[in-house]
Amino acid sequence: MAYENILRDDDDGIAFVRVNRPDKLNALNDATIGELQHCFEALADDDTIKAVILTGSGEKAFVAGADIAELATQNSLSARPLAMKGQHLMNTIESTPKPVVAAVNGYAFGGGCELALACHLRFASDNAVMGLPEVTLGIIPGYGGTQRLPRIIGKGRAMEMILTAGRVDAAEAHRIGLVNKVYPQAELLAATEKTVRKMMSFGPVAVRFALDAVNHGTEMPLTDGLNYEATFFGLLASTDDLKEGMQAFLEKRPAAFKGS
Ligand code: COA
Repeated sequence: MAYENILRDDDDGIAFVRVNRPDKLNALNDATIGELQHCFEALADDDTIKAVILTGSGEKAFVAGADIAELATQNSLSARPLAMKGQHLMNTIESTPKPVVAAVNGYAFGGGCELALACHLRFASDNAVMGLPEVTLGIIPGYGGTQRLPRIIGKGRAMEMILTAGRVDAAEAHRIGLVNKVYPQAELLAATEKTVRKMMSFGPVAVRFALDAVNHGTEMPLTDGLNYEATFFGLLASTDDLKEGMQAFLEKRPAAFKGS
């Protein structure tokens, strides 16, 4: 599939995916959502890719939201499927069996904030501003924001951000746990790549199971989540990577994981 609204560049195991509508501050129109869906489905199955960095083109915006020009044309029959399509994309990103890190390089509002929330980690530039301003448009977040934001920053803070359409700058986003790290804009991608390459040096099966245990285990009652965790822990005991990881520690050398 040829992409018109996103770019994918692969570099030594990392896929750099860029939403590429800078003249519209990378707003998520229907076509962009479709291309991201296709892209992330392909990335999940691509064994040459070990991690994904998702960012926006230009220096101003990560993604300034769902495309308001398109939203304005919705009716009660079309809006629900639109929300389901966006949610499906966010679920696909969250379920990616390898780390997906958002490099939030500017505005991340509405659907852009929801896109970042679906990623496993969020690193932000110091000029980033994030928020869910949907109520100012007479709608609510529809791509998972009402569900993922409280799970990440807690119900009280999420309720405040959603009900007051509050915008948080990078420092505040970091303080409340909405982003993991903040870097000067010029350093954001390099710093994100450095952390991603560090994750790629660890046991790939362990990283995949850790993603799964956190993503799915936290949706279960605690006893079931703990059981889920123990099952993965047991499965990892049968991998060569476990033997290699322990052996490398004892021999005081870096581990050479094979992902098996
Ligand atoms: N949907 C569609 N187009 C958008 C957009 C969105 N979410 N956000 C920005 N754009 C477009 C603008 O319409 C403008 O297009 P134009 O040049 O053809 O008129 C272009 O991107 C630049 O935006 P502009 O508003 O001129 O930039 P700014 O620097 O003055 O303001 C923002 C930046 C992000 C504060 C402002 O664009 C904004 O508030 N956007 C909407 C944010 C939002 O409510 N998102 C949630 C949607 S559910």
